[in-house]
Amino acid sequence: MADKILIASGKGGVGKSTLTVFLGREIASGGKRVLLIDADMGLGALDTMLGAADKTMNTWFDVQCGNCDLKSAITAVSPNLKLLPAPRFYSDDIPDDVFVKIISECESDFDLIFIDAPAGVDGCLPNAAAACDKAIFAATADEISVKAAACASFETEKYDIKREDMRLIINRFIKKAAVKSRLLNIDGVIDKSGVRLIGIAPEDKKIPYSSVTGVYPDKKSKFVKAIKRIAARIGGENIPLVL
Ligand SMILES: Nc1ncnc2c1ncn2[C@@H]1O[C@H](COP(=O)(O)OP(=O)(O)OP(=O)(O)O)[C@@H](O)[C@H]1O
Ligand SMILES: [Mg+2]
Repeated sequence: MADKILIASGKGGVGKSTLTVFLGREIASGGKRVLLIDADMGLGALDTMLGAADKTMNTWFDVQCGNCDLKSAITAVSPNLKLLPAPRFYSDDIPDDVFVKIISECESDFDLIFIDAPAGVDGCLPNAAAACDKAIFAATADEISVKAAACASFETEKYDIKREDMRLIINRFIKKAAVKSRLLNIDGVIDKSGVRLIGIAPEDKKIPYSSVTGVYPDKKSKFVKAIKRIAARIGGENIPLVL
């Protein structure tokens, strides 16, 4: 059965979807079969970030409504990487077990499933958390974002994801700013969030362009190297922390 990992943050715009896409690509390129589920109803972005917006048609909402079967809603981005997109509109009428049902139907086809949650602690976050057994929280190294990640981690605990199965990624990290104490330093982030660190991804000016085009940035960039290390740790490897 697939590992099912929620990617959440509480605060919006800290890089949940970016990390979902890059970690998904990286793990799939290593040979694992990966499914990305976009749970950000009305605001889904994974199709665009993967450069697959023109390939995707049906969404998990269509599956839920019986408009199509699950197979026809799952788009192949590459042989090992598949996407189940979010609907382009918001609905209040989503059953609590929408992702539990979808995943139970397809999880034997995958080694790993990431669910990219919306910002906040409502919307589809509870539905997504209910379908996952682990969670990764994204935060930037500032007080507001870290508080939000901590809040999202407490909400997630309500859905039986244990604290020992939660990890934190500090994204958009700027070493100089942390050193000059303009932002929280790493220890400060971990202490405040109450979640164990799994990696640090640096600020990279090329990522916003990559997000809107699906174009992969330089594989030698510090950001891509950081993603590779985090992906390896998700796979159980013991890789030292690098700044
Ligand atoms: N490490 C990074 N360096 C530079 N820009 C980044 C980095 N990570 C993400 N970004 C940019 O930050 C913006 C927000 O990222 P993203 O959409 O992944 O965040 P999100 O948490 O999923 O947002 P939302 O809460 O709206 O779903 C995007 O423009 C993205 O390209
Ligand atoms: Mg997002």
